[in-house]
Amino acid sequence: MRAWRVHETGEPTDVMRLEEVPDPEPGPGQVLIRVRAANVNFPDAMLCRGHYQIRPPMPFTPGVELCGEVLAAGPGVDPGTVPAPGSRVIAQPELPGGAFAEKVLAPAADIFPAPKALDDAEAAALHIGYQTGWFGLHRRAGLRAGETLLVHAAAGGVGSAAVQLGKAAGATVIGVVGGPEKAEVARELGCDTVLDRVEAGADLPSLVKDATGGRGADVIYDPVGGSAYDASAKCVAFEGRIVVVGFASGSIPRPGLNHALVKNYSVLGLHWGLYRSRDPEAVVACHRELTGLAAEGAIKPLVGERVPMEGAADAVRRVAAGTTTGRLVVIP
Ligand SMILES: NC(=O)c1ccc[n+]([C@@H]2O[C@H](COP(=O)([O-])OP(=O)(O)OC[C@H]3O[C@@H](n4cnc5c(N)ncnc54)[C@H](OP(=O)(O)O)[C@@H]3O)[C@@H](O)[C@H]2O)c1
Repeated sequence: MRAWRVHETGEPTDVMRLEEVPDPEPGPGQVLIRVRAANVNFPDAMLCRGHYQIRPPMPFTPGVELCGEVLAAGPGVDPGTVPAPGSRVIAQPELPGGAFAEKVLAPAADIFPAPKALDDAEAAALHIGYQTGWFGLHRRAGLRAGETLLVHAAAGGVGSAAVQLGKAAGATVIGVVGGPEKAEVARELGCDTVLDRVEAGADLPSLVKDATGGRGADVIYDPVGGSAYDASAKCVAFEGRIVVVGFASGSIPRPGLNHALVKNYSVLGLHWGLYRSRDPEAVVACHRELTGLAAEGAIKPLVGERVPMEGAADAVRRVAAGTTTGRLVVIP
């Protein structure tokens, strides 16, 4: 089969190579899946650069989520707990054997039925972005109907998911984006107000205050860090919650805790992946919830581009460069 492999760390287009490799064999507790679509995530670039919290042994295949078809289960997998061969599923493959390949192995516990309402590319983009959004907005921040949610990088992968989940929860959503094309996408996603961070510059916090009658945003969802965080601290509401989701800007903020005390707001860390081991039942319940929202049409992953297998490395490069909207999905 064909698989993209990384033999040394570096920039994605320098180090990802499309190679012919043997088909994987399912071991104990594993399921063999034929990949139908594999979503590109920001961490794919960090994995290539050796900057991610997980450092798989070389050579490894990037790609951390997919939609595929079950081919076979390995020894010790209880057939009652895994969808039957031929079923369409969402899965997180086990690195070093990532999703930018024709076939992958995934732990039986990390496989979920693909929602019927979504096509392969949409289903491939559901799991990480929407689970992260759900846990961030509901479990960590306790977002309530009628509150104002501000989403940084609102036209991006996890940002677009948070916008849709915020609207589904009855929040008023302010999307912050970089540039007019992304602003258009954020409007189409359903943001009530869209602010272009490039145009706004240092005025961003006062524009948020204007849009909220001077109150500020109740919940701020931040996958960007750096100056996005600094702006958030200036426009978060009394008893507001800033959810720290990621550092796509490359800059990790060092917040002043005296400021959080003086203004009565909370800074909440979010590492969704930890829930997979700490509270797997909540992840399963969240998938049920997301499947229901997809069936109602309340959420639908925004697929910016469907990319052929040969284009995977360039797709990873473009997502890391911050120029893409929605999700880029590789179709092997
Ligand atoms: N905490 C968790 O559990 C968790 C789970 C999933 C993902 N994440 C994190 O969430 C972040 C976003 O991931 P994603 O896959 O959805 O990516 P993405 O949002 O599609 O892409 C990143 C976005 O960040 C913005 N950005 C601002 N400054 C940037 C810069 N200097 N370079 C690149 N982008 C910049 C850009 O949007 P604008 O131009 O519109 O600002 C860009 O589109 C990543 O840091 C990822 O690691 C965290």
